[in-house]
Amino acid sequence: MNRRRFILQSSKAGVALSLGATLMACIDQNTDTVVQPKKSKVIALCTWGFSEANAAAGKALESGSTALEAAITGVAVEEANIKNSTVGKGGAPDREGNVTLDACVMDANGDCGAVVCVQNITHVAALAKVVMKETEHVMLAGEGAEELAYRHGFQKENLLTEKAAEDYRAWLKTSKYEPIINIENHDTIGMLCMDQHGDIAGACTTSGLSYKMKGRVGDSPIIGAGLFIDNEVGGAAATGMGEEIMKQVGSFLIVELMRQGKSPQEACEVAMQRIVSKNKDINKFQVAYIAINKAGATGSYCIHPGFSRMEYRNGKNTRIPSAAHFTN
Ligand code: GLY
Repeated sequence: MNRRRFILQSSKAGVALSLGATLMACIDQNTDTVVQPKKSKVIALCTWGFSEANAAAGKALESGSTALEAAITGVAVEEANIKNSTVGKGGAPDREGNVTLDACVMDANGDCGAVVCVQNITHVAALAKVVMKETEHVMLAGEGAEELAYRHGFQKENLLTEKAAEDYRAWLKTSKYEPIINIENHDTIGMLCMDQHGDIAGACTTSGLSYKMKGRVGDSPIIGAGLFIDNEVGGAAATGMGEEIMKQVGSFLIVELMRQGKSPQEACEVAMQRIVSKNKDINKFQVAYIAINKAGATGSYCIHPGFSRMEYRNGKNTRIPSAAHFTN
């Protein structure tokens, strides 16, 4: 029996033949012809206008990367960007002058890993994946996470750039500590990816609040707060004032709202309403959420105008301004 005949006969018996890791050939039963599969749509979205990071994730997805690998590839762009004072190398230090990073990842199987208060390692989202894959644990802190990094070939780097050190010295003159997250600017990068299989995973990484208390950890590495994925439903990520996001377990809440039938946009809005209704001080901080569901629909919502998400879809990377609780 030649190959074509086999495909046709198999198909008539209700069998689709795998032609590769991601694509399936089918038979049009009316015409008995082989229908070549369409390349499935991949999607990457991230917080703020991190267009290079999002494009890197989108291209990785198109090349066949898993959703998790693509998300880690994407956020790594910002972790290495020394002009970004809120993520990775170049991040603002704590009030003692030490740059400490937080990150987490979550994959389509529901596995996750996180690191908190890590010094000297730039790519902490990749390190969170090492925690997930290579240890029995979900979260490692400080020196333990750093030692794990060296055991897995990560380089020791000075994360405090000259510019960040200069800004820190200027801050020391008053040492005025106000935990205000930028309203128009960015902080954390949270990224959600859907790969060629339709699987969803994400990563979230930050240097946290500028001049934070020594040991302070925000929402970004907390599974359910900064990031949550349920591959049957969708995923969500957060940015902004970590303390407020943690109190409402924001990303988990969004995924649960989508499970109950809300669209990603509706789920982000309802979850934000929890923060808004329980705070008298919402003028003082920003929070923003992004979300994607299993059908590839996306949404975002923030407290103050100025937040946007990047979205890579159909080969195009687009900045999408987000709806906000306040209108000006
Ligand atoms: N969302 C980042 C932080 O609060 O640390």
